[in-house]
Amino acid sequence: METYLITGGAGFIGGNFLKYMMQRYPDARFVVLDALTYAGNLGTIAEETASPRCTFVKGDIGDRDICRQIFERHDIRYVVNFAAESHVDRSIENPQLFLQTNVLGTQTLLDTARQFWTVGKGADGYPEWKQGVRFHQISTDEVYGTLGSEGYFTEDTPLCPHSPYSASKAAADMLVKAYADTYRMPVSITRCSNNYGPYHFPEKLIPLLINNILEGRPLPVYGDGQHVRDWLYVEDHCKAIDMVLHHGRPGEVYNVGGHNEKKNIEIVRLTIAGIRQMVDANPAYRQVLRKKELAADGSIRTDWIDEGLITYVKDRLGHDRRYAIDPSKITAELGWVPDTPFEEGIRKTIVWYLEHQDWVESVISGSYRQYYEHMYGA
Ligand code: NAD
Ligand code: DAU
Repeated sequence: METYLITGGAGFIGGNFLKYMMQRYPDARFVVLDALTYAGNLGTIAEETASPRCTFVKGDIGDRDICRQIFERHDIRYVVNFAAESHVDRSIENPQLFLQTNVLGTQTLLDTARQFWTVGKGADGYPEWKQGVRFHQISTDEVYGTLGSEGYFTEDTPLCPHSPYSASKAAADMLVKAYADTYRMPVSITRCSNNYGPYHFPEKLIPLLINNILEGRPLPVYGDGQHVRDWLYVEDHCKAIDMVLHHGRPGEVYNVGGHNEKKNIEIVRLTIAGIRQMVDANPAYRQVLRKKELAADGSIRTDWIDEGLITYVKDRLGHDRRYAIDPSKITAELGWVPDTPFEEGIRKTIVWYLEHQDWVESVISGSYRQYYEHMYGA
């Protein structure tokens, strides 16, 4: 039985990846290492961690002793490193934490894997590696910086990060590549565009919009709302990681994206329209609205769910204008293509949030409220 170490597995993409992999590989074992920061939630993976095939370890990827103990106790074959501080706005507030986790944490994990996976030394002085192992780093398109109105990020685009978050992710990528070059460590890297889907923490654009609409709050749009992101349904990202982990060439970077560029203001309008349509069509969903105003006939009003909720606010510092991925390498080499068109993905995402308000309530605790008020005002 192969064992995967999934770091950051209680977060958005890591949690979705754990679900995807446990279904896809019914004989495999999984160890999840997660520090359970504000972004990690054991409720996201409650079903998975109840299985004897999954072991949960609460800890920091930068804690050498915890990493060592995991490798001592489990015969780890694959490391998939999702653990990170992932929110650009928070990196502008507190850059150091991002370097701590995203850079030093990744280096600690790399070093531990190197120690346990090295089985000897070749005549050329390079380490000999245990058969079949792989360290996979989850990176981001943000390491490439920003685009003008034309063109795409390819794997050869020079790294040019602008935020403390993306700088820390670029540094981690450089370390992973350095371990491949210096020790011939079997590594791979995926750089994906913006994900969306279930279990997304409501500090990020789409879940924040959904949550604010349900509460009847204004929808904050940074700057002129014309910034472009390239959106991918999270399960399509999970599929790409699985393919690269098992079939990608060692030492390589693969860009992941579904050619789904949208301006932020379009995302806002689509989310408003999607929710309005669903609550109008289904009285049970109307009950989920936290802003409950009654019409003369006693029904819950929905006519306030419109573009009047849009509020333009101060722009993000150093805000990258446009991201767009060229995924032709992963498609040509591994046959990856996304399965979920945006219209279907956003509908599934809205339905998920309407039906999982218990999860939302559990993550928007006191610290989320404090964060929200600090960023957007009361
Ligand atoms: P997230 O913030 O939802 O989850 C991060 C997880 O890592 C949380 O469970 C948190 O508790 C855990 N964590 C944080 N610090 C840790 C530490 N020191 N040790 C152990 N665990 C720690 O993030 P996400 O959106 O799921 O992103 C996961 C990865 O994917 C990140 O590396 C991010 O850079 C990358 N990525 C995200 C997107 C996106 O759109 N969300 C796109 C491309 C790449
Ligand atoms: O591109 C991949 C990256 O996508 C990942 O590496 C990051 O971990 C992930 O957080 C995401 O970064 P973004 O900064 O693109 O995502 P965010 O959801 O924070 O913002 C999306 C866009 O929406 C961005 O242009 C800023 C804007 N925005 C965001 C928020 C939270 C708003 O206009 N209003 C908001 O309230």
